[in-house]
Amino acid sequence: MGYYDQVKEAAEAVRSQIKDVPSVAIVLGSGLGDFAGTPADAVSIPYEQLPHWPASRVVGHEGRLVVGRVKGHTIAALAGRCHAYEGHELRTVTFAVRVMGVLGVKTVVLTNAAGGINTGFASGALMVIDDHINLSGANPLVGPNDDRFGPRFPDMTDVYSVRLRTIADQAGAALKLPLAHGVYAALMGPSYETPAEIRYLRTIGADAVGMSTAAEAIAARHMGVEVLGISCITNMAAGVLPYPLDHREVMETARRVRDRFVALLEEIVGRL
Ligand code: HPA
Repeated sequence: MGYYDQVKEAAEAVRSQIKDVPSVAIVLGSGLGDFAGTPADAVSIPYEQLPHWPASRVVGHEGRLVVGRVKGHTIAALAGRCHAYEGHELRTVTFAVRVMGVLGVKTVVLTNAAGGINTGFASGALMVIDDHINLSGANPLVGPNDDRFGPRFPDMTDVYSVRLRTIADQAGAALKLPLAHGVYAALMGPSYETPAEIRYLRTIGADAVGMSTAAEAIAARHMGVEVLGISCITNMAAGVLPYPLDHREVMETARRVRDRFVALLEEIVGRL
C-alpha cells in the first residue's frame, strides 16, 4: 500500500471514531502532554489502535490522539510523536501530521521542548517559533512527490504563519505571559549538541535547538495547513551554563511550566 493510502486509511479510522472533524491539531512535545487532558467530550485513541501509525518509545512521550472540544472548537491533541533519532524516516515522523491534514485540519500547532541558544532566554521561557533551520540532514518530502498532498517544490517563506504568531502574542498578553520569539534549529539528535555546535548555531541565527518540529512543519505546509510553533525552553543549550545537559532537566522544566503552557494553548485555541 502506498504512503498516501496508508495516511488515508488512518484518517478514516480516526474519522469513524469522532463526531466532528477537528479544525486544529496540537502536537504536544516532551513532557508537555498534559494539554491532552483538557478537551471536553473527548475521544481518546491510543496510537497502537490506528492503522500504520508509528509508535514512539521515548520516556515522557505518551502515545495517544485525543479529539474533543476546547473553547468552542473541536481540536485534536497528539500526545507523543516519533522522532528521526529513533531510526524513523521523516515520512514516518510526519505521518501523524499527514493524517491530520487528510482528515481536514486547517491549523497545526507544533510544540516542543528545546534548548535555549539565545542567552537572553532562561529555562522555562516559552518561544514562538518565527522560522526554522532544518539541519536534520533530511527532508520529509524526499522521494516521488504525491500531488494529492501538495506540490513538488513548496514555498517555505512563511512556514510559521504571521497571523497565528500574532494570535499567540495576544494570547500571551491576555495571560500576562510574555512570549519570546526566535528561530528553531532542528537537528537529528539524539545526542545533545556540543558547545561548539551551539556557538555555530548561534552564529547562523538560531535561538533554540531541538530534535523535532521542522519536518512536521514542512509536511504541514506542503499540504497548505497553517502552522504555529511553540518551544518550551527546557534548558539552556550546551556550553551556555557550566553544567552538562540531562533529559531529566528537560522533563522537570516541562513539568514546571505545564500549567502556563496548557493555559496558553487554551487561550490560543479560543482566539482561532
Ligand atoms: N538540544 C536539543 N534538543 C533539546 C534540548 C537541547 O538542548 N533540550 C530539549 N530538547
